[in-house]
Amino acid sequence: MSAPGLPDGVPRHVAIIMDGNGRWATGRGQPRSAGHRQGVEALRRTVRAAGDIGVGILTLYSFSSENWSRPASEVRFLLELLRRFIRTDVADLHQANVRVMMIGDRDGLDASLRLMVEEAEALTRNNEGMKLVIAFNYGSRQEITRALQSIARKVADGRISPDDITPAVIGNHLDTGGLPDPDLLIRTGGEQRLSNYLLWQCAYTEFVFMPEYWPEFGAELLNRAIMAYRMRDRRFGGIKAQTA
Ligand code: FPP
Repeated sequence: MSAPGLPDGVPRHVAIIMDGNGRWATGRGQPRSAGHRQGVEALRRTVRAAGDIGVGILTLYSFSSENWSRPASEVRFLLELLRRFIRTDVADLHQANVRVMMIGDRDGLDASLRLMVEEAEALTRNNEGMKLVIAFNYGSRQEITRALQSIARKVADGRISPDDITPAVIGNHLDTGGLPDPDLLIRTGGEQRLSNYLLWQCAYTEFVFMPEYWPEFGAELLNRAIMAYRMRDRRFGGIKAQTA
């Protein structure tokens, strides 16, 4: 089930919806910000564990296009967490040969944060270990809209013909262009929905929904999700290979 060159049964690309920070904190009588802070610890554990297991790409939903509707103080806190994470963790990630990338609408970020993201990407560009893709100010419908606008501009300029537009062309115009689709999507926190995450890319992704809140996540729960994934029979719309 794993891609060529990967340890047996390891998904090449794992995408995660890190849900439940707020509930984890309020259940302990703590402010939601404490949950997000513990969420960063879980994120660090998960990056390490995924790298150890041999996952090739880890894509984490860190802030959605719709999260701007949260109270301004929480939005500020999440933006500050990204800033702090880049400041404190990118050097170690670089050491560990991790390539850091961001997907999402970076035009919606302030210039200094955008620059920090660009610098992290540039520093780690040639790293050949795991790719850590941070989905920030990300929404799948917005991403698809931007991709279609870009394709439409090329059609209008006569650079491509409408007949040349294929699923591969659309895929390459997405923020994830060049990356293989996720094999496994994990959502913590008990909800069972995609919440505008990687809608195009998840056409044949296996979903594992877990009741645990994100701050509880780490190597053990990642392994549990991968075990569930390994039990799945992926047919991609075909049928099981027949033996004669
Ligand atoms: C969902 O939990 C989580 C988020 C909206 C943010 C996820 C962010 C992190 C884990 C930390 C950010 C890290 C970086 C590096 C930017 P929720 O708040 O919706 O929880 P709830 O459903 O229990 O309210």
